[in-house]
Order: sequence, then structure tokens, then C-alpha cells
Amino acid sequence: MTSALELNRWVSEALSAIESAGDMEALKSARITHVGDKSPVALASRGLGALTSEERAAAGKLIGEAKTKIAAVIAERTSILEAERDARVLLEEVVDISLPTRRTPRGGLHPLTLLRNEICDYFIAQGYGVAEGPELEAEWLNFDALNMPPDHPARSMQDTFFIEPLESKLVLRTHTSPVQIRTMLENEPPIYVICPGRTFRADELDATHTPVFSQVEGLVVDRGITMAHLKGTLDQFARRMFGDEAITRLRPSFFPFTEPSAEVDVFFNDRWIEWGGCGMVNPRVLAACGVDTEIFSGFAFGMGLERTLMVRHDLSDMRDIVEGDIRFTQHFGVSL
Ligand code: PHE
Repeated sequence: MTSALELNRWVSEALSAIESAGDMEALKSARITHVGDKSPVALASRGLGALTSEERAAAGKLIGEAKTKIAAVIAERTSILEAERDARVLLEEVVDISLPTRRTPRGGLHPLTLLRNEICDYFIAQGYGVAEGPELEAEWLNFDALNMPPDHPARSMQDTFFIEPLESKLVLRTHTSPVQIRTMLENEPPIYVICPGRTFRADELDATHTPVFSQVEGLVVDRGITMAHLKGTLDQFARRMFGDEAITRLRPSFFPFTEPSAEVDVFFNDRWIEWGGCGMVNPRVLAACGVDTEIFSGFAFGMGLERTLMVRHDLSDMRDIVEGDIRFTQHFGVSL
């Protein structure tokens, strides 16, 4: 049987182990050793059953007192160690928010790219596909297939960059319309696509011209397509670009690849603005691309992205769009 003396010794051993525990780990192992299942106190507790009831009452009381005392010291030590740990963590993990950091600008998309994405998203949501073609284009696709044979006056009106050697018959595309041809040659109707891309004309860079610019072309070929579909599509597109108040008007015009053809103007900020060209795809063009004109008809439209951006944001100088000064682009919410 455990004597009171022995018990006292265990208690004082336990207390000194607990009090000298330097951290939570050490405290845990002290607790296991001195009050765990295999500790002398626990074993003594278990031995109580073998005693007479009187002895048991007396010994039980002593053991109970010893356990209570040890538990109290553990609780006290725990809170001291936890407080120490918390204080240390606060100190060790402190972040100096006043330290200067090296800020690497992540860059942002150019307003033209944002506009192009916005237009693509708008048409994709209506089931259109996005078609692209090369900037260095076969002269035949840029002109001939669009019903502009070599002697056609419209051909010389577009200030074309020809590529040497001239026998290569390559040009920097003057518009995105050759993508119409590529699309019709590669796909059977129904066709619903927009073709965004860079285009080139030998213009001097000034407030309203740039030799490298961007267009977005729309092409629809399906059964029963009429000019009403074209007008409705342009009206909706104009509203998406310029706000719900925007309306469009078609002015008769001429393009060799559309018949009839029109200029599309948009009424925005109290004035009519020339926005782009459009028309019903010329049946000659459809036929040249292998489309059965007895069954299918189509419309096409094309506009400049720089111009759209300028009108929408009341910009007066196209050079601002081209030159890439971030003081300009940041006005469009482009974050760097
Ligand atoms: N490709 C024409 C241009 O750049 C615009 C246009 C596109 C006209 C589609 C009609 C149909 O001038």
C-alpha cells in the first residue's frame, strides 16, 4: 500500500517536473509521467480496491487531494506557457507593414484589346464564332475573291502595302474581309462569325489615320437572310457599343463584295457618326466560295476598332491609341 509519505514524494516530484517544464511539449510529457495511466498516482488509485473500506476512504481522500493539487498546478503552468508562446509568436511572426517592397507592374490590356474582347464576348454570346486570318494575305483573297479584279478602281483606292518580290502576290491585308472568304471556303453555311484583326494601309500617322489599325468584320450566311437582319444586328451592336440610346442609319454606298452596300452611321452624342461599311454579300462572292446562292444569302459588316473607341470615349487624336503611353491607357481602367 502507498504510504502518505510516498504519496507526498510523488506529488512533489510531479510538481517540480511540471514547474520546470519549459514548453508545452515538456509539460505534456510531465503530465503523462506523473498523472498518466501508468503514473504512480494512477497505479495507487487502482490499488484502492484491495483495501478495506476504512483504509480505502482515507487513502482515496489523500490520492484525490494529490490529484487535485497536481491538476491545479498543470492548469496554472499551461496558462503561463501558453501566454509565453503567444507572446513569442507575436514577436517572431511580426510583419513590418512599413517595409518598402519592390512593386513589379503586372501590366494590363490595351484599351483596343479590351474593346476587341468586349465585341467578341458580345457576339459569342449570340452564337457567333471568332475567325482569324493572316495579316500577310494573298492578294487574291484580299481583292480578287472579293470581286475586285486587278483593274477594279476600288483596288487602287485602298492604299495597299505590297510585299516584295511582287510576284509573291502577297499584301498586308487592307481589311479583314479576306477572312470572310477564308471562312466560306472552309465552312458550309450556316455561318455566323466575326473576324477581328489588324489591318494595314499606307497612310501617314495623324490625328485620324494610322497605317496599322484594327477592324472587326461580321459575316452571316444562312437561309433567308435579309437586310432587315443586318439592320437589326447593327442596331443591337451599336447599343452594346454606345449605349441604349444609340441608333443606326444605313446610307447607300458601294463595296464590290456587297450588293446592295451601305455605310453605317451611328447617332451618338447628338450627331451622326460614320461607323463602318456593310451590305448583303454579293452573290458573285458567295458563288466563288462555293455557296449555293439559290438557297443561301448573307450579310457582312466591318468597322474600325480605333474609330469605335474614339467615338465612344470622345477621343480627338488617334495617335494616343497607337503610341502606347500608359498615362492614356490608365484612363480606361487599365491597372498596372
Ligand atoms: N472591308 C470594308 C472596308 O474595309 C468594310 C466592309 C466590310 C464593307 C464588310 C462591307 C462589308 O472598307
